[in-house]
Amino acid sequence: MRTQNEWKSDPQYVAIVQDLLDQPAVQKLANYTQHHHSNRLQHSIAVSYDSYRIAKRWHLDYRSTARAGLLHDLFYYDWRTTKFDLGSHAFIHPRVALRNAEKITNLNAKERDIILKHMFGATLALPRYMESLIVSLVDDYEAEHEFFSPLRSRIEDRFHKQSVKKLS
Ligand SMILES: [Fe+2]
Ligand SMILES: [Fe+2]
Repeated sequence: MRTQNEWKSDPQYVAIVQDLLDQPAVQKLANYTQHHHSNRLQHSIAVSYDSYRIAKRWHLDYRSTARAGLLHDLFYYDWRTTKFDLGSHAFIHPRVALRNAEKITNLNAKERDIILKHMFGATLALPRYMESLIVSLVDDYEAEHEFFSPLRSRIEDRFHKQSVKKLS
């Protein structure tokens, strides 16, 4: 079972995201509650690290997955109290996150797609890359199981089925 700080003892992962973690714009996410028992920084790291591990196992672009996963919710309002309906929030916040992410790092096309399409399922935006699909599904999963992933293998089963379908 993965613990909250497992990523800290993974030097390759840390090396990939350290420059982002050093940014005040990223650290600031700790001030926002994401789900009942996590803040947005903890959530973003959990999504980033789990997605990174899956992408690595599948020989995908784990670097882009880790970086964009970390930045996928880079927005600064409380989505539970801000006056959007849920559909609007799902549509708007990936765009806000993308704009904020571009202020602190250079993003490649895959990283932009990962951030923009991470609400795939709630919005009509289809992921262009397998890495985007991974972050989107891990994000859904983490929303309910923050920090503990006893069912991670179930997600991987889902990816396996998805991976045989061709992504547009
Ligand atoms: Fe999000
Ligand atoms: Fe998220």
